[in-house]
This record gives sequence, structure tokens and C-alpha cells, in this order.
Amino acid sequence: MSDREPIGVVGVGWVGLVTAACFAELGHPVVARDIVPEKIDALRRGEVPIHEPGLPVLVERNAERLTFTTEIGELLAAARLVFVCVETPPTYSGDADLTAVMNAVQEVRDGHRALVMKSTVPVGTGMTIRRRAPGIAYVACPEFLREGSAVRDFLEPDRVVIGSEPGDEEAADSVAAVYEPLGAPIVRTDVSSAEMIKLASNAFLATKISFINEIANVCEEVGADVTEVARGMGLDDRIGPKFLRAGAGYSGSCLPKDVSGLKQLAGNSGYHFQLLTSVIEVNELQKRRLVGKLAKHLGSLVGKRIALLGLAFKPDTDDMREAASLVLATRLQSEGATVAAYDPVAEEQARDLLPAVEMSPSALKAVDGADAAVLITEWPEFAELDWREAARRMRTPLLVDGRNFLDPDAVRRAGFTYEAIGRPTSRGNGEPSGG
Ligand code: UDX
Repeated sequence: MSDREPIGVVGVGWVGLVTAACFAELGHPVVARDIVPEKIDALRRGEVPIHEPGLPVLVERNAERLTFTTEIGELLAAARLVFVCVETPPTYSGDADLTAVMNAVQEVRDGHRALVMKSTVPVGTGMTIRRRAPGIAYVACPEFLREGSAVRDFLEPDRVVIGSEPGDEEAADSVAAVYEPLGAPIVRTDVSSAEMIKLASNAFLATKISFINEIANVCEEVGADVTEVARGMGLDDRIGPKFLRAGAGYSGSCLPKDVSGLKQLAGNSGYHFQLLTSVIEVNELQKRRLVGKLAKHLGSLVGKRIALLGLAFKPDTDDMREAASLVLATRLQSEGATVAAYDPVAEEQARDLLPAVEMSPSALKAVDGADAAVLITEWPEFAELDWREAARRMRTPLLVDGRNFLDPDAVRRAGFTYEAIGRPTSRGNGEPSGG
């Protein structure tokens, strides 16, 4: 048996399962608990219910150290450090729904354990929990995992943030000790600052994306190429090259939720967060811009057949939460178009959300007879597609690249009229190549 600190994980969703598997990989015995019996049964059979690269291998390799249960008692008997990884979805008002978090606190509070909050919560939540459950030590340790690279993000983090209050230092030291082998900078701070680091980081990333999307929109007006602009900007150390890809807006389960959560939090405390209000608005408009690009070439969309290439909110995930494809498909249908779609992994997740969309088994099948194709998720296989064959199959070879993913020259050579985001649309001299 391992001599490493046993770890409990409450909530075996995407964050919880990655956290559990990675701690097991680091040598800790882990008891992970979820209230959904079917999920636990599947995990006990070795089935990983989410699409996350590298995760099935970790779960299999560490099966001996990983226990899955529905019983909180089994977890509390095994572990002193309890990582809470339950969902905090947005309510209609944009506030975070803390029902699952508070249920977890309720269950752990009698056990005199250290409760380590991984879930993203509004600033102030930790201090409220400390007041309500004085028997437990409380540590804020927000997750910074990206879907599609969550295992790597866990094992090679940029930083680990650990927030605690006087009296809970020992628990915070234990949390620091389990992360110490990763060799990342550890930011020790107070609980509310730790909570704010998470929200502010995601809000900043969203701001960066909305900023470059607006630059892209201006580039379209003035004949500049946003990919060139981002390349030049990104070399400035103070700006950096990441999160400067213009496209169909940010989506997913975290960025939209955390940006509106922070805006709401500020509003609830009496401060109007002007900048975030615009960041959100720009993002909503950006998702819809693709419709305008189609209309520019096709005129009325009534009776037109549009193929969506990619549905997931980004590659390497089957997550459809807040995906730009949802806004686009619904919008196209309301304008009278028929929508076909292909996604290598998200089809099943998308089917219920987009019942009127024809799901195709391949990209080439999706574009068959289409008046236009819209690339909405930059799956690597789209870079390899036989675009010449795709153009042949379409009624009009119009391609709107919602992620600036493809090489404009190559796609035009294949016979397409190519539209992207913030890149020149005409065939000019010295046109940059994308990809
Ligand atoms: C994000 C944060 O990055 C992560 O730290 C946090 O823990 C959870 O939220 P994730 O939701 O997995 O992770 O997605 P991310 O890779 O950050 O992308 C978010 C969205 O922004 C995607 O829709 C993506 O397509 C879009 N994006 C990203 C851009 O439009 N342009 C970019 O340059 C980068």
C-alpha cells in the first residue's frame, strides 16, 4: 500500500475524475465518490464516461489505487483531505448555483476533515462556509484545467493556488505537500484572493479573446489580416501569443460561466463591471457573425443547405456547453436553412441539443449537396480533408472558416470561395497562409 496521503474526491465529473486519476498517478490512494450510481458502476468496470485525452490510460494504470463509491462514509473513513469537485452551474441570473457545493459541505462537516474547494465558486463562498462549518479546515484550491489537455494541465500546472485563513494552515500545508512533487510555483494566499485569482484569470482570458475578435472585425473593414496582427502582437512579452486566436467566440463550460459569474458578483456588491459587460456582448455577437458571412454570399438562407464541420466547443472534447455551433445551428434554422453536421466525437452529446440537425457520419457526407460549409471546431482531421472532393460534392463551394484554421490558398486552390475571421476575403498578392 502507498505511504502517500490518502485523498478523497467528492464529485466525479470531469474535474473530479481528472483530479482523482492524477492524484492516483502521483501515488496517492484515492477514494472518489459520486451520487450517480450508473457513473460509479461504469467507472468500476473501467469505463471512462468522458472524452479526455490520456485519462483512460491513467484510470486503468492506477486502478489499484482508485476506489469509486457512492458512499460518503467510505470516503470519509479513508481520507483526511477531501477535494470538492462538484458542479457550480450558472443560474438564470448569472450567479453560480451552489447547491452541490453546499451539499458536499454538509456531508463533510461532521467528519473533522480538511475540505479543499476545487470547484469554481463566487468570491466570499469560502468565508461563508468557514462560518457555517467551523468544525472543518477549509482550503481554497481552484482548478485551472482545460478540457482536452486536463491531464497535462494537472500534472504540469503553471501554478497552484492555495488559499487559507489563520487556523487552517496545517490543512493548507498538507495540500501544498501533495502538489509539491509537480514542481510548479505554489501561490499561498487568503481564501477570498484564491477564489478571485480563478475568476479573474478566466475573465482576463475571455477579455483577450473578445479583444482579438474585435480587432479581427476591424481588420475585415480595413483589409488587414488578424492572424498576422496577432503574430506581431504576441511577440511582445507583455502580451504573449496565447489566447489571441480570433474565431467564433469563446464557449465551453467555464469561460462564459466565470465571466458572467464575476460580472454578477461585482454587480451584487454594488460595482458595475463595465469591461466584462462588453466582453460578454462582443462574444455573443461574434458567435452570430458567421450567419452574416453566409448571407453575404448566399443572400436569403431560406431553403439553403448548410454543413457544420465540428460541433464541440473546441477540439479534443465532446463537450457542447455554450458551443458556438448551438447558436449558429439554431440561427440558421430560424432563417429557413437546413443544417447538416459532422463532429468526430460530439455527435451523441449534440443529438439531443440539436434534434433538427442532420448528423452525418463524415465531413464529406455532411457537405454533400450543401450550399456552404462552416468550420466551427478546429478538429485536426479537417486540415487533412480532401477539400477538392468536398468542393465537388457541394452545390456551391463556399467555406466559412470560423476558426481561421485552414490554409486559405490551399482551400481556394481546391475550388472554394473562402471566408474566415478577420482575414482578407479577396485573392490578393502575398496572402498569408493559415493552418
Ligand atoms: C478554460 C480555462 O482555460 C481553464 O483554465 C479553466 O479551468 C476552465 O476554462 P476550457 O473551457 O477547457 O478552459 O477551454 P479553453 O481552452 O480555455 O478555451 C475556451 C474557449 O475559448 C474555447 O471556445 C476556445 O475555442 C476559445 N478560444 C481560445 C478562442 O476563441 N481563442 C483563443 O485564442 C483561445
